[in-house]
Amino acid sequence: MTVAPDAPILFFDSGVGGLSILAPARAALPTARIVYAADSAGFPYGTKSEAEIAARVPALLGRLVERYRPRLAVIACNTASTIALQHVRAALDIPVVGTVPAIKPAALLSKSRVFGVLGTDATVRQPYVDRLAAEHGADCTMLRHGSAALVQLAEAKLRGDPLDPQVARDALAGLIDQPGGDRMDMVVLACTHFPLVEQELAAAAPHPVGFVHGGDGIARRIRYLTQGQPWPDTPAPGVAVFTRLDERQEALRPTLARYGLDRIEAL
Ligand code: DGL
Repeated sequence: MTVAPDAPILFFDSGVGGLSILAPARAALPTARIVYAADSAGFPYGTKSEAEIAARVPALLGRLVERYRPRLAVIACNTASTIALQHVRAALDIPVVGTVPAIKPAALLSKSRVFGVLGTDATVRQPYVDRLAAEHGADCTMLRHGSAALVQLAEAKLRGDPLDPQVARDALAGLIDQPGGDRMDMVVLACTHFPLVEQELAAAAPHPVGFVHGGDGIARRIRYLTQGQPWPDTPAPGVAVFTRLDERQEALRPTLARYGLDRIEAL
């Protein structure tokens, strides 16, 4: 299949979390045209049922692919990926890259053999997480905690709203207060919103912990899947598309511009 230089890469999340995946991808492919889609009408995903997400995400991706004709789609959301990646792949005829919890690197890096998985409620209960743990961290204790408040903190930070430091403390306490939590030395940021508040999490940690997430690995995967394809000669203007547009998305305009997303559209 021939690909036009201006064929975009599509990133998809419920909100701004996918920007933590977009950033390393843009650094790797600086002239790529980007369409960043956020399902603001369906946000947040982390408190929804598997059935709701499995019905919603492939349908939206289908509409987005029809409208923007991307060369590749990235589900820049752990919740959507761990639940709906296979359904999306079955529905689309372009490569689809998912975001799954970075359990493998956490298990490799943990010296204490205790690591945490911080995600949404929906992600941390997925069998996918158990499979990754059995495969890569069978000799580790894996603690898991879901935080919807931390997702809201990341959204607030990118809108420029004041932040409550207690939210990050509570999210970490959800891991550290579990048996073995005092020995936890690595935390998987298993929601794409959470790398956006990594500073706040590091400041809230009662003892030093390392944080890992999948952003760099996804950028490498995108490069691999698009090798040999043509790109624009100069950086192409990016688009942010929302399923609901109101003053919350309007408040994101300066942040979106920093990620090269100068235009806002409604789906
Ligand atoms: N950013 C999403 C994730 O990676 C979900 C946030 C939400 O909508 O709850 O899981």
